[in-house]
Amino acid sequence: MTKHNIQAIRGMRDILPTQTTWWHRMEDQLLSVLKLYGYKEIRTPILEKTALFSRSIGEQTDIVSKEMYTFTDRDGSSLTMRPEGTASVVRAFVEHNLIRAEPVNRLFYMGPMFRHERPQKGRYRQFYQMGAELLGSADPAADVELMELMVRCISSVGLDDTSLHINSLGCSECRPAYREKLVEYLKKHEQRLCDDCKRRLETNPLRVLDCKKDACISVSQKAPHMMDFLCHDCSEHFETVRAGLSALDLQYELDHRMVRGLDYYGRTTFELIAKGLGAQNAVAAGGRYDGLVKQIGGPDVPAVGFASGLDRILLLLQEQLQQPKAMPVLFLVTHGNEAWLEGLKISAMLRRDGFKVMTDVRRGSMKSQMKRADKDGARFVLIVGDDELSSGQVTVKDMVATPGSAKQISVPSDELSTWLRARLGDGKGQSR
Ligand code: HAM
Repeated sequence: MTKHNIQAIRGMRDILPTQTTWWHRMEDQLLSVLKLYGYKEIRTPILEKTALFSRSIGEQTDIVSKEMYTFTDRDGSSLTMRPEGTASVVRAFVEHNLIRAEPVNRLFYMGPMFRHERPQKGRYRQFYQMGAELLGSADPAADVELMELMVRCISSVGLDDTSLHINSLGCSECRPAYREKLVEYLKKHEQRLCDDCKRRLETNPLRVLDCKKDACISVSQKAPHMMDFLCHDCSEHFETVRAGLSALDLQYELDHRMVRGLDYYGRTTFELIAKGLGAQNAVAAGGRYDGLVKQIGGPDVPAVGFASGLDRILLLLQEQLQQPKAMPVLFLVTHGNEAWLEGLKISAMLRRDGFKVMTDVRRGSMKSQMKRADKDGARFVLIVGDDELSSGQVTVKDMVATPGSAKQISVPSDELSTWLRARLGDGKGQSR
């Protein structure tokens, strides 16, 4: 009988301990920016009723028509693993009537999303998003604040080489006329479009504009612009958004062909594009979705939001930056059973005081414990043997002693925390 190794599912990756240091750092940086703008975390389930996504993202979108992980539950109901976060946040917003307590809600989430796409660099079937949703304002001020937040978030993690692309998709007043003109134009060039776009021409003609095939690009480059069809209100909204971005000194490009792959958008849409990722170069994207809350069964609440692809950000960071530096570690080395028992008390005390302490749980020889300490990048090695037991002291070995300073010193065990704090400061030598 052949033995089969079971491996992870295609497009779904393990994030190993060498990687999680990066993730923690990025998440911490994002959290601190989100706090500056008053965002509060919301956590929603990974599974939702399928109808939530098909109704909000749109039946004809790629996500709903071919990328969702959908299955029938034991009671016969259709469930889907969330392909994005906005629909779930809006469902929760309506279900818990969050608007009752707060007219303006600023919510964020971080977590895995699932789309059955063809895996490639920067595109996975399980990927992680950080998203922010601002519900309760139709004013362009909300669009501007949100885009500013998006740009700040991405630059806070160390990605500066990005460009902001914006567009307006108009509203239900002005879009139909544009759609009509667009279809008229595309029909004239139909024979040059790819098969997918020929189908989109019937179902979702705006999506032809962001097809990545060369032939379709050359057709859509000369297509009419939504901008020329905006109604008075949409036009004014977009101008105010642009004025806000300029006041903030945020450079942007008008991207007439950016239509986004989800149907709930209207008016402002935007993407943050990074250099160096190849085809999958959007590190964050979003837009205004004024009709969605009502569509999900809630009151008429306008909203705008974005989500960023954390896997992609890390890919870029790892190409650009060096591994985050591990902070110093304390390593406790003991010799003999009595010393081990005393060492247990000392390490418990130090951890209670907030220090990171490592020990060799295999209880090898002194020499092998010292080797382990070196491998772990210990800043100080704390040694407890017979001499230390009788004197109530701990021998502290400074692994990066500067020339002239003592390499080894005895410190009374009850003064150890104070002694270490004086040398390691408040950071206490933490590493994840
Ligand atoms: P989205 O453009 O579908 O928008 O996704 C946002 C970001 O998630 C993308 O720009 C990309 O960085 C990342 N992403 C998407 N798919 C994948 C994948 N297969 N692998 C890796 N990264 C991926 C949304 O999801 C909207 N919910 C954004 C939004 C929030 N709009 C309003 N509020």
